[in-house]
Amino acid sequence: MTDFLELARQRRSIRKYTEQPVEPEKIEKLMQAALMSPAGKRLNPWEFVVVTDHDKLTEMAGCRTYGSSMLSGSPLGIVICADASVSDTWKFDCAIAAENILLAAEDLGLGACWVQVLDRMVKDDSEETAEQLVRSLLNIPEHLSIVCIISVGYKNEERKPREIDKLQYEKVHYGLY
Ligand SMILES: Cc1cc2nc3c(=O)[nH]c(=O)nc-3n(C[C@H](O)[C@H](O)[C@H](O)COP(=O)(O)O)c2cc1C
Repeated sequence: MTDFLELARQRRSIRKYTEQPVEPEKIEKLMQAALMSPAGKRLNPWEFVVVTDHDKLTEMAGCRTYGSSMLSGSPLGIVICADASVSDTWKFDCAIAAENILLAAEDLGLGACWVQVLDRMVKDDSEETAEQLVRSLLNIPEHLSIVCIISVGYKNEERKPREIDKLQYEKVHYGLY
């Protein structure tokens, strides 16, 4: 059985990937991890778009000025969207599904990173939202809000694991604040 704390310690945002594609079996496992995530009232408002086409990923990389460029060098992007009318916990549900994917990626020997889409503009001075751009690139229907994209691939950078004795323990309050 996986040592969960060790997995959480090792997981860091990885933004550089090798050219090696992610095997379909691993993609399936990532999606199983997403589909097993908890959701308010078990209403599961999320839907996922799995993108492996390099040209498409390169176009998706343009959804933000900063913070999305790694998609052009990643062999896999998983778009997480949800029907907000299904559950008022949709944002939380999507975030948990995203975290399940991030942790599963680490467990499978992959690197991954969250790319924020919701509430972001393509450029600071543009009228177009990141969501509009991603929606039109992938034919995502209007009733779905797009929360984020998880870029995934084999790691091409090293990140230090978290140090257990340097965590922000002062943020934890026991009993009363
Ligand atoms: C809600 C959320 C939004 C994020 N958005 C982006 C993003 O748009 N681009 C990016 O490169 N990283 C993004 N990240 C990754 C964070 O920068 C990263 O998790 C944080 O710096 C901590 O580093 P670590 O993941 O390596 O522990 C996001 C993470 C979260 C949880």
